[in-house]
Amino acid sequence: MRTLISGGTVVNSSGSLEADVLVDGEKIVAIGARGSEVSLGWSEGADRIIDATGRLVVPGGIDGHTHMEMPFGGTFAIDTFESGTIAAAWGGTTSIIDFAIQSKGASLREGFESWSEKAAGSCAIDYGFHMIVSDVNESSLKEMDQLVDEGITSFKLFMAYPGVFYSTDGEILQAMQRAAGNGATIMMHAENGIAIDVLVAQALARGESDPRFHGLTRPSLLEGEATHRAIQLAKVAGAPLYIVHLSASEALDEVVRARDAGGNVFAETCPQYLFLSEADLAREGFEGAKYVCSPPLRSVEHSHDLWRGLRTNDLSVVSTDHCPFCFKEQKELGRGDFSKIPNGLPGVEHRMDLIFQGVVSGQLSVERWVEITSTTPARMFGLFPRKGVIAPGADGDIVIYDPAATQTISAATHHMAADYSAYEGMTLTGRVESVLSRGTVVIEEGAFFGRPGHGCFLERSTNQYLV
Ligand code: URP
Ligand code: ZN
Ligand code: ZN
Repeated sequence: MRTLISGGTVVNSSGSLEADVLVDGEKIVAIGARGSEVSLGWSEGADRIIDATGRLVVPGGIDGHTHMEMPFGGTFAIDTFESGTIAAAWGGTTSIIDFAIQSKGASLREGFESWSEKAAGSCAIDYGFHMIVSDVNESSLKEMDQLVDEGITSFKLFMAYPGVFYSTDGEILQAMQRAAGNGATIMMHAENGIAIDVLVAQALARGESDPRFHGLTRPSLLEGEATHRAIQLAKVAGAPLYIVHLSASEALDEVVRARDAGGNVFAETCPQYLFLSEADLAREGFEGAKYVCSPPLRSVEHSHDLWRGLRTNDLSVVSTDHCPFCFKEQKELGRGDFSKIPNGLPGVEHRMDLIFQGVVSGQLSVERWVEITSTTPARMFGLFPRKGVIAPGADGDIVIYDPAATQTISAATHHMAADYSAYEGMTLTGRVESVLSRGTVVIEEGAFFGRPGHGCFLERSTNQYLV
């Protein structure tokens, strides 16, 4: 199957050009100056021609942080690998990296195999795994080396959630030392969970049970403190560090300092920290439960700093931390006790569109939009140049994007399984028009043409920013 995408503006992180793109089978095979379809006879040999006139032609998005079917707080994230990856495709994301979980007392391999079983045959787009390490011990440390050889090259540890995923500083240091030896990147949920649990217990004892207290008991200072500690531990171990879902100015300050000093320290933020705020968490009645995630939504001053961080590359990536729970029945578990509200928001479908608003407002160039949503995650997580770029030899993961279309986000029209949208009623400029995943058209003219099982497991190499 040969597909010609003609007449569009090809946008890579390195620059934009008016060009035609030829895809043969699963791969991009050629890019030619506009008119190549005629001068090189590409149109004659093509089975399908997509007219991209007036459109951007960009590499498929890579969402490096999702939690399909994740067990949390006595329930499971509501998107399956099938529904979540179909929703991702609708939004122009053609690869996800989800988190396989090691349960306490179990091995890393058991976690990897169990998550592989859920994902294999279900994903509509390509997928890889990071590994959540919740039981650091001699044998799980050894297993990290084997998993790196099998394409799991990043491991998430938690300074939050004591009794669940939490690791002590000593355990974190040991995992980092292992990563320093095997080339893996340590991903960190940087919030001081021990101190937070004290604040939560005190708040509940005072009868403060509404969703807004979720935010008030997780102050930004404790994210800054944990981020500082994680950076120091990584320095001692000599391991690369990637701070996940960074939400607070104090945490960003720590990352800036470490990067300015030349450290292999990286960070992502998420659309919810750029577009939503503590005011959403404080919505009337129990509505705020829709916005409970950790770290929590903060004041708009933090969002301004995060946008700055994206411009200056102190924040390298935007991922979603897609971890959706229905308002009815799931978020309800925490009515009367905010600490029992499952943590997480739906978002995998809207990341590309939301971050495109940075282009619309003039805060980001269109190339930077591609960089933080596709190219950098590809390099950070060992997928480049197979993913994250429109170039000969790369996978045919391509989004044809209409920069002038408008859309209004709503749970009534989104494809995620959650029964609400955190961005309900928000009107955006820009819209995904067509999506190709490894050369196959999966979204076109408002319809899904993909299939569960089309997505392949991505065996990843190590972080390509390391020297
Ligand atoms: O609230 C969140 N972030 N839920 C998902 C789990 C995590 O810590 O990433
Ligand atoms: Zn986390
Ligand atoms: Zn997460």
